[in-house]
Amino acid sequence: MHILVIGGAGYIGSHAVKALLKAGHRVSVFDNLSTGLEVNYFKDAAYTVGDILDYPSLQKAMSQDVDAVIHLAAKKAVGESMENPEKYALNNIAGAINVLNAMSACGVKRLVFSSSAAVYGEPVYLPMDEKHPLNPMSFYGFTKYDMEKYFDWYDRLKGIKYVSLRYFNAVGYDEDGDVRGLEKNPQNLLPIVMETANGTREKMKIFGNDYPTRDGTCIRDYIHVTDLGSAHAAAIEYLKTAPESQIFNLGTSEGISVLEMVNKTEELIGRKINFEFAPRRPGDPAVITASAEKAGKILGWKAEHSTIENIILSTWQVYKR
Ligand code: UFG
Repeated sequence: MHILVIGGAGYIGSHAVKALLKAGHRVSVFDNLSTGLEVNYFKDAAYTVGDILDYPSLQKAMSQDVDAVIHLAAKKAVGESMENPEKYALNNIAGAINVLNAMSACGVKRLVFSSSAAVYGEPVYLPMDEKHPLNPMSFYGFTKYDMEKYFDWYDRLKGIKYVSLRYFNAVGYDEDGDVRGLEKNPQNLLPIVMETANGTREKMKIFGNDYPTRDGTCIRDYIHVTDLGSAHAAAIEYLKTAPESQIFNLGTSEGISVLEMVNKTEELIGRKINFEFAPRRPGDPAVITASAEKAGKILGWKAEHSTIENIILSTWQVYKR
């Protein structure tokens, strides 16, 4: 199939591109390179630099015999979304609506969307399955939640079948070193641990050590991006026969604490990581874990690269340079 990957030069997108090429698809990427990077380009994919807010160029990219779209282009900083909702409304909602409208105009009927665990908000039970109540606590989470509602309507009205993939904490790097782009000014835990290990930062903070968890620090469900990549390829396979639209969690159901991530990194790479305990970060639930049983049953997907060792070592391979 010919797959248009919007946001395919970014961190998760480029891992998805690799999985799609491996599965034998023809891949075209549309990316504005705001966070995507040329260093993530694959020689077997075709690249267009363009913005989803520029409807004519989006429609042009869509009009080239595209069989399916994977839409990953979005802003993703939770804190920023609360300070600057306008930016998130425009990029994540208006931009995604442009994608839907271009699909509709060009008769493209299959969509894979990058959603997030942020649609759930504070956990009511664990591990969280897809039926867990939706109560996003950030505007970022709301944009993902909102788009899933649009997809339902475009399914009903336009026959566009979608698979929404709710990622939990995306981490790791391609083990072959094919994706090397580093995020500028990262906000997430593992990149910050890595920047502390390689000397980019002097010290890091662990937000809160008084949570009701085994070591007092927050527990999250970390999923390797290579596993996310294969889930996109599996979602495309699923959409080939287009039975009905689906939403899937992608995680491991295993939790790793912040302190475990720091300690294990020190152990595996043999470097000291300077950290201090700091007050809790507002809005952080103590524990988040996913049930990805549904993706296992329907997509035949399971996490195969997401051990803590592989997560840390594949990331260090990129950060140590
Ligand atoms: N943390 C630290 N120090 C840091 C950075 C993070 O202690 O310098 C802690 C956080 O407090 C949290 C854990 O590490 O307990 C993980 O934090 P991240 O920011 O890496 O990830 P979150 O779990 O907060 O957020 C992630 C994604 C979001 C998504 C959310 C859904 O980054 O996009 O999961 O649950 F919305």
